[in-house]
Amino acid sequence: MAEFTLPKNSRVQQGKHFPAPAGAKNVRTFKIYRWSPDDGQNPRTDTYDIDLAATGPMVLDALLKIKNEVDPTLTLRRSCREGICGSCAMNIDGTNTLACTKAIEDCGKGEIPIYPLPHMPVVKDLVPDLTHFYAQYASIRPWMRTQSPAPSRERLQSKEDREKLDGLYECILCACCSTSCPSYWWNGDRYLGPAILLQAYRWIIDSRDEDSGSRLDELEDPFKLYRCHTIMNCTRTCPKGLNPAKAISEIKQLMLARTM
Ligand code: SF4
Ligand code: SF4
Ligand code: FES
Repeated sequence: MAEFTLPKNSRVQQGKHFPAPAGAKNVRTFKIYRWSPDDGQNPRTDTYDIDLAATGPMVLDALLKIKNEVDPTLTLRRSCREGICGSCAMNIDGTNTLACTKAIEDCGKGEIPIYPLPHMPVVKDLVPDLTHFYAQYASIRPWMRTQSPAPSRERLQSKEDREKLDGLYECILCACCSTSCPSYWWNGDRYLGPAILLQAYRWIIDSRDEDSGSRLDELEDPFKLYRCHTIMNCTRTCPKGLNPAKAISEIKQLMLARTM
């Protein structure tokens, strides 16, 4: 029987431990993935004991406490701190979510593990490289495409047509869904993934857009769309409560309808 051995140091190593300050009474432990392209070292997890009495309620509050007061070398992205910019997306306690809207008290018992979004190249620590994800977004040309002459004022839309965008326009492109999708993990070079397909559908069903036929043609490809196997991880993980799997299934139905 073939026997395989992992190279020495191929696992994420235990790193440094930063204990809570003396006298802290309400301590939670955060175990955080660390990797820097600059030091030639393997990834490790550092452990931080944080006094919740001196921290805000969200995981992002704890991360900023660590960065500002305990270990300034920790690298993460964040901007709005209210679930709008999508930049603080990471894997917290086993789930892809936004650090700024994830309450510490909603994490499970024991240490809280925090990793970058899965299956993406890492720039440093908790910062994933989203270059390919954004290139895929650009590939669907996510703007209104029209051929008819522009009206003197805005292009109008009925209330009913506007409602068709509900559940789609709220997407903040955080990539939590795409990086939770096994099909995207294995075929992310060619499969567009749930976030980009939800965005594609947002334009396909916009009554003001005049290019839905071409948009569907562009998705008619064995990889771009049809690698979705309805596993539903995307919908389960979306921190905005959206349903990318449903958007994908609506695109597939439109594809089917136009063959009849
Ligand atoms: S659908 Fe949800 S999880 Fe996916 S990118 Fe949009 S907001 Fe993020
Ligand atoms: S439903 Fe489709 S897009 Fe969503 S996780 Fe499953 S395979 Fe990926
Ligand atoms: S900081 Fe903007 S979504 Fe979390």
